[in-house]
Amino acid sequence: MTPRTPLDLVDARRGPAFTVTFDGREITVLPGQTIAAALWSAGITSWRTTRGSGEPRGVFCGIGVCFDCLVSVNGRVNQRACLVPAEAGDVIRTQKGTGHHD
Ligand code: FES
Repeated sequence: MTPRTPLDLVDARRGPAFTVTFDGREITVLPGQTIAAALWSAGITSWRTTRGSGEPRGVFCGIGVCFDCLVSVNGRVNQRACLVPAEAGDVIRTQKGTGHHD
């Protein structure tokens, strides 16, 4: 018996992959992936630095509660990477501190 995947169980068909960029690097994304999932899939685990000490941050809670995963998407800062679905052509950038010039 062939193991069934979640896609098999709901008879879903995955759409074609697309690309986004992260700090200028092209990344392949599968439909439905959040920005965090896409970055993780590309081996990227941090995309923000903290105010003051500049420590790297990425996903912590993964459910939109902690705000550790903030990132700049298409020029909009403070987007929670764990909640925002990736869209074809998104320009994602590392967010430094608050993302504003402060
Ligand atoms: S990882 Fe906690 S809000 Fe995104």
